[in-house]
Amino acid sequence: MRDVAVIGVGLTKFGEIWDRSFRQLIVEAGSKAILDAGIEGKDIDAMYVGSMSSGRFIGQEHVGALVADASGFYNLHIPSTRVEGACASGGLAVRQGYLSVASGVNDIVVIGGIEKMNDVAGTSATETLATAADQEWEAFFGATFPGLYAFIATRHMHEYGTTKEQLAQVAVKNHANGALNPYAQYQKEIKLEHAINATMVAYPLGLLDCSPVTDGSAAVVLCSAERAKEFTDTPVKIIGAGQASDSLALHGRRDITTLDATVHAAQMAYKQAKVTSKDIQLAEVHDCFTIAEICAIEDLGFVKKGDGGKAIDNNITTRDGSQPVNTSGGLKAKGHPVGATGVAQIIEIVLQLQGRAEKRQIPDARIGLAHNVGGSGATCTVHIMEGM
Ligand code: COA
Repeated sequence: MRDVAVIGVGLTKFGEIWDRSFRQLIVEAGSKAILDAGIEGKDIDAMYVGSMSSGRFIGQEHVGALVADASGFYNLHIPSTRVEGACASGGLAVRQGYLSVASGVNDIVVIGGIEKMNDVAGTSATETLATAADQEWEAFFGATFPGLYAFIATRHMHEYGTTKEQLAQVAVKNHANGALNPYAQYQKEIKLEHAINATMVAYPLGLLDCSPVTDGSAAVVLCSAERAKEFTDTPVKIIGAGQASDSLALHGRRDITTLDATVHAAQMAYKQAKVTSKDIQLAEVHDCFTIAEICAIEDLGFVKKGDGGKAIDNNITTRDGSQPVNTSGGLKAKGHPVGATGVAQIIEIVLQLQGRAEKRQIPDARIGLAHNVGGSGATCTVHIMEGM
């Protein structure tokens, strides 16, 4: 296996985007990444696109070909493949691109992630997202993702004494970070009392415990590490890439407060990178709901099981803490265009390791981690990156 590096990144603004189409969004992100890397169409060996449910959100499938076409590269006949794994579609696309370069099959690949979720009404977005749950055992009975994560939250509160205030503090922290991110859907701080008292969605998760419904796109360019410095002075190497699966439905898990797919994907990535959780200086984790960030920092080994709620009290995950989490604003404030999220998480870590994160910059960041989850935890990817 060869070493692989990120040599270019590109992001659109996340939010409710009414003035640009699906294809305009992915072309914007892809063009920015290609310009950032300083490559041309003829340099690209393959493209991978993460998209969860374009068929239901905008009525368009065959997204791999659409991206090759819309990018203007259709006459170069570059292989372009859509990758789907619910909200982990972006992370899976990065992993597929990574494996194709690591194996020696490709030298330079462009990976995009995209979702345009606001073209359908809110209830349709909820139903579409619920197609990633188990249809026979969960969605058929009316379970939605806020509902499923509410089960996880109430169990965590029961087992470990986690409080609604600690959940709310995760939202306050991530909104504070999002306020510094010009690409975030919500660039405003929120107060703790507003987060605690927000309209209830599924007890104990209120409106401000939830990630929003978002339009947006993200793209990265990967290259073999040996060639990376031909294109940029500051490539970022992917030193560990893990992926794991678990039961589709929550009831199949040995413990619903532990996402074993995260545990296994992280172990795979740590082993390859020859690091431990203690070496991770910052992370983007999948906070689709505030409880998901609490579980993630436990399952990634940043804190011991059950202590995720206290981490925020102890200032571990804030920007000035020992392991800052979700400096971009996370899914909570930056937004969660499901197919784009995993790619956007990689971008935040790359920007931090390159010293390009502006007001959000964590000083001297050298090793970072991106954690992307599909559904309630049936799919997970973990990527660990280091500046070269
Ligand atoms: N965080 C912060 N503010 C939010 C928000 C969120 N998650 N969702 C909506 N808002 C804001 C809107 O900007 C709007 O503000 P405004 O009145 O100042 O313009 C207001 O709240 C109402 O927005 P609306 O779109 O009517 O909310 P909604 O009730 O239709 O949707 C949720 C709210 C929480 C149900 C929706 O965001 C949701 O379903 N989130 C979860 C998405 C999900 O499941 N993703 C997959 C995870 S696995």
